[in-house]
Amino acid sequence: MSTLWVGTSWKMNKTLAEGRAWASGLRDHLAEEMPAGVQPFVIPSFTATAAVGDVLGEGSPVLLGVQNAHWEDAGAWTGEVSVPQAKDAGARIVEIGHSERREHFGETVETTRLKVAAALRHGLTPLLCIGESLEVKDAGGTSEFILDQALGALETLDEQQLARVVVAYEPIWAIGEKGRPATTEELIAPFAALGEAFGGKVAGLLYGGSVNLDNAAELLGIEHVTGLFVGRTAWQLEGYLELLRIAEAHAAS
Ligand code: PGA
Repeated sequence: MSTLWVGTSWKMNKTLAEGRAWASGLRDHLAEEMPAGVQPFVIPSFTATAAVGDVLGEGSPVLLGVQNAHWEDAGAWTGEVSVPQAKDAGARIVEIGHSERREHFGETVETTRLKVAAALRHGLTPLLCIGESLEVKDAGGTSEFILDQALGALETLDEQQLARVVVAYEPIWAIGEKGRPATTEELIAPFAALGEAFGGKVAGLLYGGSVNLDNAAELLGIEHVTGLFVGRTAWQLEGYLELLRIAEAHAAS
């Protein structure tokens, strides 16, 4: 079975001290107990990228990421961070196209395509997030919508490039405080569609949106799901460690 990716984005949360404490707790735990068959990753805010990387240490099994990056390498783009800058700060993953960025910051299929290309150009792993609104879901358009998002960002890649991409399916209606977890039944068709398009071709097909300690094992059991992308449940280190244990048990089963 393929490696299970289990990671968290902190979104716009945590001070440097909080970020360092979480990272040092994780580092110490993994030194004792590295979960087999699991790829951990953490995506702090830009302000904490380098600090978290320093705490995790060189050669850490935890992949560090950023929540966004510009498609240009440098230049007059006030307020933006480039992929080379993210890499310089220690990042190895670039999260691209989270629904919050699409909704509030003008991220489009075209900008996600440019950002995926920029990440690959510099040897980083693009983590492409896709997901539909409740309106699209209620109209029965989920699979078509998410395939359009994914293909729009990925269809120009060759086989080797695609093999370095991780895709996270995160239905908008399932994310955050206002979201509710997707049921297994609701996820079978979208993951079948993603599996048909990308199964065995990308580095991972993750589920995200209200993942918690009660539903994680079942979510990992859905066909084509090879990991979890988690917000709230993983912001407390204990929650994240428990998710790693659940994933390890699943990988061994
Ligand atoms: P959540 O966030 O786990 O807190 O719902 C998920 C996400 O936005 O990736």
